Parts: sequence; structure tokens; C-alpha cells
Amino acid sequence: MKKLRIGLAGLGTVGKGVYDILQKDADLITRRSGAQLEIVAAFSRTKKDFLDPKIKFYSNASDFSNDPQIDVVVEVMGGLTTAKDLIIAAIKSGKKVVTANKALLAEQGVEIAKLVEENKGYIGFEASTAGANPIIKGFKEGFAANEITEFYATLNGTCNFILTKMRDETRDFFETLKEAQALGYAEADPVMDINGTDTAHKLVILGALASGSNPQFTKTYIEGIEKVTIEDVKIADQLGYKIKLLAIYRNLGDMLQQTVYPTLIKKSEKIAQTDGPYNAIVTLGSNSNWNVMIGRGAGGLTTGSAVVADIIDIACGRNTSPLFGVKCADLIEAKIMPISQRVGKYFLRLLVDKEMAQKTNLSKMIFGDKINVENAMFFDRENDILCGFITDAQKEEELLNVIKNLDSTLVKSVSFLRVESTNF
Ligand SMILES: NC(=O)c1ccc[n+]([C@@H]2O[C@H](COP(=O)([O-])OP(=O)(O)OC[C@H]3O[C@@H](n4cnc5c(N)ncnc54)[C@H](OP(=O)(O)O)[C@@H]3O)[C@@H](O)[C@H]2O)c1
Repeated sequence: MKKLRIGLAGLGTVGKGVYDILQKDADLITRRSGAQLEIVAAFSRTKKDFLDPKIKFYSNASDFSNDPQIDVVVEVMGGLTTAKDLIIAAIKSGKKVVTANKALLAEQGVEIAKLVEENKGYIGFEASTAGANPIIKGFKEGFAANEITEFYATLNGTCNFILTKMRDETRDFFETLKEAQALGYAEADPVMDINGTDTAHKLVILGALASGSNPQFTKTYIEGIEKVTIEDVKIADQLGYKIKLLAIYRNLGDMLQQTVYPTLIKKSEKIAQTDGPYNAIVTLGSNSNWNVMIGRGAGGLTTGSAVVADIIDIACGRNTSPLFGVKCADLIEAKIMPISQRVGKYFLRLLVDKEMAQKTNLSKMIFGDKINVENAMFFDRENDILCGFITDAQKEEELLNVIKNLDSTLVKSVSFLRVESTNF
């Protein structure tokens, strides 16, 4: 029987998941792939106890990459330096690659895609985005006969978990973050999760596949959930909304919206109903119409199953398509919408001086004719009134201009979040 010899780079959460699946599900995998998938070498900073002593262990990246016994390099280390060098060396020496490295593909994907094409190589990266949800295959294959015009996604389980807990248990951001860490959903250093970078990496990969354009990370607008307060969550809830950290892609014709920000979304919408540590992707295809995919986005076995699926594809000789779905020469350089050009509804949270505020028509007193309010809530406090407004659709730069010029003796503080609607 055919043998596929695997070199496993990275023995952390995902590496251990891949290792365990290849051991415990070996029979199933052999039947499905027609090959024996065997880990022959491993690379990491430190050797781990779970590793079979028969497996060669490397702590030097270039020795590992140059091992002629390896057919497929599985890179589940993360990072943009050693991981990148290792992938480049593997592709140049004719090895196939499977990676979970969203940061590398989002930030330096063009360079990697060119290298793969020049060397007639292959990189599987299902595990990079949305864990076990087969969304890379979905975009590259399942929706291949569609123009993907829009998608909306919750792509970070930690953020979804925190926002869900804040709403359900009226607990503040830092408390729920601590719980997410204790439960193993959040990293010891959760900055990239919380500030939206992790979501943006995944959005950029999906955006490139959806539009057939170069992945554009630096032009992607990114806002995390650090500034979402318990008051935002409570008022949004009473107005009929949940707050989610949404990755949003829209083909606007002359440019692409590719943004990450905390978003108010009506509770009745499909994307609002995916709570806790789950990921969801709601996609609008020109022929397929709306589609939703929901599942775990992280974890050893979860992500490991996506990695092993890519290895099985290699064993079967499937999936030889270009990295971003079309040849590098055909990837376009799409114009990305600056956030100031966003047109949509907004949620404004204001603290207004109680003495100055008239009891009737407070919205008019604050905004005049500059902002039309669709819905409002007021909460009486000792010295001030806490207000939550949902505005009509307007351009962001105009909204900012109005906010800048509000009467500061009346309005003590103001903050805003964006409101979205997926129509699904
Ligand atoms: N965790 C998830 O659920 C998940 C989901 C989707 C995608 N991913 C992606 O999968 C990759 C791995 O994530 P993970 O959570 O498994 O990470 P992890 O638990 O931190 O494990 C990383 C592993 O790689 C090794 N490593 C890291 N940098 C290295 C270097 N410069 N040289 C040698 N070894 C190095 C580490 O060695 P030491 O242990 O010796 O430090 C460790 O064995 C990342 O790209 C991540 O974004 C993870």
C-alpha cells in the first residue's frame, strides 16, 4: 500500500490533535485515502512526551525541512518567520504542505502563492479558517459556480464566547475574558483574538477566495471588542439586538467592503443565533443564494480534523487548484472600501446632562436635523440620562462630523457601534 510520510512541525494544541487523529483513526483514514499516513519526523522547540520515540525529532528547522524521508510537511507552529522559512524550503524541495497558519497566508499570501505556482507545489490550508468548518473547500469548490457577493462571519470563538457571556450573565468584559482563559478558549495572551486581528486574518483569506483578488490585510479595517461595555450589550439587548464581532465582506461593485468590527445585529438573524465559542459563516452566492455554516472554530481535534482532511486530499491526489482559487497572474488588485465611506445604521450611546435635557424630544435637542433616529431608549440616572439610539443609514464620515460638533455642555460622552443587517 502507498505510504505518505509526514513531517509534523509544531507539537502544541493543533499538532497534538493531528497526532492523535492519525493514531486513533488510522483505519478509517487508510480506507478513505488508500494510503498509510505515517508521521516520520517532528519539529518543535521542545520534544513532547506524547511523541512515539520511533519518530525522528528535530529542533533545527533546516535539518527538518531537508529530511528526504518527508513527503508532506504539516506546519502547525504559527508565526511569520521560522514557519515561513520552513514552508518555503518544503515547497522548493518538492514537498507538499498543509498549514493552519492564517497570519502567514493573510499577510504574505501572494508571495507564498507565487512560490507554490512556480514550483508546481500544493498548500492545503483548510485549518487556517473557522476550524473544522470546511469553508475553504466551500469557497474554492462548493461555491465555485457563484459570484460570492457577501458574507458575514463570526470567526473567533473567544470573542463570541465573551460577548455571549456578557449578554446572558450581565458580566463585564474582563470577568468573561478571565473565564474564557480558564476554560481554554482564549490564549494566555489573547490580544490578537480580542483586538480583531485573528478574525481579520481569516476574513482576508476568505475575501481573497471570494473575489479572486490578492489577499489585502493592511487595508482591512479592524476594530476589536475591547471597547464594548456592559451598557452597550444591555441597551442593544433591549432594542432587540445582539453584539457580535463580525467579519464582513461585500462586493460593492467598484470596491470591496472588508471589515472587522463589533456589530449590532437583530436577534432574529441567523448570524446572531450562533452563540458561545462557535463560528458561523453566512454566505450569499449569486446562484446558490444564502447559506450558513456553523461549527467549532478552534481546539486540537477540531482543527486537527481539518489538517488531516487536507493530508487525505494529498494522498488521493485531489485539490491541485491554485492557492487562492485562480492563478496568480489572474488575481486582481481590488480596491478596499475606506471605513469613512461605510453607509449604514449606527448605535450611539450618550450620557446627557440631566438638568439641561428637555424631557420631550431629546433626540432632536441633541442632533437637530443632522441625524434621524429610528429607535431610542433612555435611562434616568442621578445626574444624567443614559441614551441609546439607533440611527437611520448614513455615511460614517458624516456621522463623525456630527458627533464632533455636538453641544459638549449637553452631551457628556458619546460612543458608537455599527449596526448591520444580513437579510437572512
Ligand atoms: N489552537 C487552535 O485551535 C487553532 C485553530 C486554528 C488555527 N490555529 C493555528 O495553528 C497554529 C498552531 O496553533 P496552536 O494553538 O497549536 O499553537 P501552540 O499550542 O502554541 O503550539 C505551537 C507549537 O509550535 C512550536 N513552535 C512555535 N514556534 C516555534 C519555533 N519558532 N520553532 C520551533 N517550534 C516552534 C511550539 O513549540 P514549544 O511548545 O516548544 O514552544 C509548539 O509545539 C497557529 O498558526 C494557529 O494560528 C490554531
